[in-house]
Amino acid sequence: MMKDAERTLNKAVAIILKYLESNLHPETKVINYQTANVLQEKLDLTLPDDGVALEELIPIIESYLQYSVRTGNTQFFNLLFSGYSIPGILSEMVTSATNTTMHTYEVAPVATLMEIELIKHLNSLVGFNHGEGLMVTGGSNANLIGMQCARHQVLPEVKFKGLGNNQLVAFVSEQAHYSYLKAANLLGIGIENLIKVKSDVEGKIIPSALETAIKLSLSEVKIPFFVGATAGTTVLGAFDPLPSLAEITRKYKLWLHVDGAWGGPVLFSEKYKYLLAGSDLVDSFTWDGHKLMGVPLICSAILVKEKGILSETCSGGGTDYLFHNDENESYNLGQMSLQCGRKVDALKLWMSWKHYGKNGYAKQIEKLLELANDAAEYIRHCEDLELIAEPKFLNICFRYIPKDKQLDDTALDQLNLDIRNQLFHSGISFVNYAHYQGKIIIRLIIANAELQKADLEKFFQNLVDAGKKHVKLMKYRKKNER
Ligand SMILES: Cc1ncc(COP(=O)(O)O)c(C=O)c1O
Repeated sequence: MMKDAERTLNKAVAIILKYLESNLHPETKVINYQTANVLQEKLDLTLPDDGVALEELIPIIESYLQYSVRTGNTQFFNLLFSGYSIPGILSEMVTSATNTTMHTYEVAPVATLMEIELIKHLNSLVGFNHGEGLMVTGGSNANLIGMQCARHQVLPEVKFKGLGNNQLVAFVSEQAHYSYLKAANLLGIGIENLIKVKSDVEGKIIPSALETAIKLSLSEVKIPFFVGATAGTTVLGAFDPLPSLAEITRKYKLWLHVDGAWGGPVLFSEKYKYLLAGSDLVDSFTWDGHKLMGVPLICSAILVKEKGILSETCSGGGTDYLFHNDENESYNLGQMSLQCGRKVDALKLWMSWKHYGKNGYAKQIEKLLELANDAAEYIRHCEDLELIAEPKFLNICFRYIPKDKQLDDTALDQLNLDIRNQLFHSGISFVNYAHYQGKIIIRLIIANAELQKADLEKFFQNLVDAGKKHVKLMKYRKKNER
């Protein structure tokens, strides 16, 4: 059995290394795109009654790699992560091999101590000197727990008796992530009681509009309790102004949470941490290791400024069988969690931090911000491209607008969509699009630590070429219609 395992694991490691290396070859496609119907035909997805030998899993791994999106490829700009982390991959192997759960020190001694150390360091970056925190299942769920802590602070009895007639109201900017809606739904707040406050042209929440919305909710005899700011919004990459928000939340005694899932790691950089000025003034903070820090998904944390709030908010009864009074009791993390079984997500972030160091991460982020500048410059100098907003972070939002053809907004929407889809279907590059101010825009995300200026130039050249071809096709079709 162990011989089989050794042979198969060695083969798999060799295949994976080759796969990772090929991501850096300029001719490697970001996806070998197939429709779901075709892909179903190509893959053997059947599950047998009698199992197969370990080695027979190797060709399955090969076809998995062949048809999966290469998120580590330097033409992958689609999501708020790209690239890969060798310490992360290594850690995932160790985590799977040791396979434990994080609820007590007893069952996860090393991982527990690593998680505690990691949380201490993340808190120190944010400016929480007496804080606590926990690895959770994604930034969305960290936002949920932030809101839950806020609800518990304002109405602790809700945990036991439910909301009753209390109408709680939460506030986020209109650019905030949709996970806040899910949180309002799950916590019984109701999504209509999540007020989306107006943001300015850069996508930052307007503090005076927030204050007006809070006053309105008070005049309606509702209970405002939570403001969810964002550090690095999903589409525009905007950072809400924390000092002004903190002034308002202090005045009205509301909880201030920051969704730093995307922008949090700028705190590594002395040069750019001004973007998150005032982070020490807030009550809780969402941190994602699996976005800008390049650690494999899922790797997220909820950080809270004051100790004790997480277990007060999240703990339930009936846990005698798990939590015993022993000499390590104070190290048990389970009572702070909404989960019972909890994967070891700390190891991969701890190992990545150990490998790159605080300074390594600072350098990576600074390099990416310089590349974002280069990308914006390219767009400014290209006659067929137009920036939608001045980029403040790693999100570059733009449109292809051919200068020699007059097109209305609907035609431009379709053109940009066609270009994006053509680049994706052909595997040339994978970039996302979004709806912003009623228009379809292209959202380029700069997140891959391996990225070079030449990769960006290649992306823009391919995009402009695709645009020109589509415009020609449009002209040809129009001519033939007549
Ligand atoms: C600003 C922001 N917050 C939260 C999330 C959700 O994070 P996760 O995917 O870790 O749940 C995202 C996802 O893109 C995001 O952009």
